[in-house]
Amino acid sequence: MTPKRYPTARLPNPMAADPIGIGLLGYGTVGSAVDRLLSARRDDVARVLGAPVEVRRALVRDLGRPRGDAIRDGLLTDDFAAIRDDASIAVVAEVMGGVEPTRGWMLELFAAGKSVVTANKQLLARHGAELFAAAEEHGVQLRFEASVCAAIPVVKVLRESMVASEVTAVLGIVNGTTNYMLSAMAAGADYAAVLAEAQRLGYAEADPTEDVTGADAAAKIAILASIAFHTRVTIADVPHEGIDRLDSLDVAFADDLGYSVKLIGQARRVEQGVVVGVAPTLVPRAHGLSAVNGSFNAVMLRGDAIREVTLVGPGAGGDETASAVIGDLMGVLGTSGTGFPRGDGLFRDLPLVAADDVVSALYLRLDVRDEPGVLARIASVLADERVSIDSVVQRAEGGRAQLVIVTHPASEGAARRAIATIAGLDICEGDPVVLRVLADG
Ligand code: NAP
Ligand code: HSE
Repeated sequence: MTPKRYPTARLPNPMAADPIGIGLLGYGTVGSAVDRLLSARRDDVARVLGAPVEVRRALVRDLGRPRGDAIRDGLLTDDFAAIRDDASIAVVAEVMGGVEPTRGWMLELFAAGKSVVTANKQLLARHGAELFAAAEEHGVQLRFEASVCAAIPVVKVLRESMVASEVTAVLGIVNGTTNYMLSAMAAGADYAAVLAEAQRLGYAEADPTEDVTGADAAAKIAILASIAFHTRVTIADVPHEGIDRLDSLDVAFADDLGYSVKLIGQARRVEQGVVVGVAPTLVPRAHGLSAVNGSFNAVMLRGDAIREVTLVGPGAGGDETASAVIGDLMGVLGTSGTGFPRGDGLFRDLPLVAADDVVSALYLRLDVRDEPGVLARIASVLADERVSIDSVVQRAEGGRAQLVIVTHPASEGAARRAIATIAGLDICEGDPVVLRVLADG
């Protein structure tokens, strides 16, 4: 029998269609990578959208800065209005960072009918509610995949792929710069030198204080907690410590005890509400997060239907972040409607649990006199607060000792009361070092 032939659909040639105009706010590490990748993948983008995409204008602060020869004439401008008022620009990628004037400019873009995709976690973690309301009011989209963990599509996974699951925890390594630094420091590198290297590689924020103090990770945790738990968490709600005050002595002790030190961000749904925080944390070497090194990030998502899903990938860098920006551009141009903010019928206000009510295992390092009865006095203070000891290591030298205690999980409020009492004992010198230990796998 002759096989039946079906007519082949004739699709219009996407490369022949009128290009869609894009604007960039910022042409630095991320902005220039978006432009380069969009032009390198022009045909693929056109196949997805049915038309090619063209970056029409890119906003910079300093037009005189040397940027190589590859910049097209007329691409760069230092006048925001040239992008806002260009009717041929359909969507804008905000990749300049900062809170102001960025917030005001984004509101002006919405009012001009332009959708925006952003990589700016500090802005969203502070003004997300206002910006989403404005986007909704003007019937445009605001997408933000690139603001959290660069190339890892964690926003999309949480928002779209896990609708059927009640997510109970989001935890992991969400800052590439500090993970790069900690990995290099574990191999003996110097803090200042490795921070400078992370800046050179384009991982760090324009102000790297945000990376090393945990403020960058705190903004990302605020964003992830808001999506995962359908509530509003801002950066002000996220207690955070960074690696800037971490002593390499504690990294060495942790190593002796079988842990690596990672900057861990957490958001957990508990009976009373939501627990959030960022802190340098001892991670058992057998734990999946312990082996995540360099500028990579890893996010563990836990929930009823999903059990546990871990997403691992590059968490910083120009091309890596640009890939997420371009994914969002495709989402805006290839879809209709208002995107994320509209119609979240699950929105609710959950209370934030006070840090003292959280249960954690702690690492405690004390500088003590090396004499009989010292350990017993410390153990007795811990016992009075019902804090139980998991392991003890001591290094003695010249009549004094560095005493390291890892506790079993206990109320942080009780443990910190005990530590304050211990710090006041005449056997102790200086402030105790206290780090969290990731104890529940
Ligand atoms: P960057 O290299 O410092 O680039 C910033 C760009 O924005 C530059 O072109 C700068 O102009 C322009 N700009 C800044 N303030 C401006 C102002 N007031 N008016 C006009 N132009 C202004 O920064 P980046 O690393 O690309 O980061 C950009 C955004 O992406 C930030 O929100 C950052 O948090 C986020 N992000 C970065 C990464 C990463 O790995 N780098 C990853 C995820 C998210 P000039 O060129 O003239 O200075
Ligand atoms: N500075 C950030 C980091 C960039 O190092 O993770 C990615 O958000």
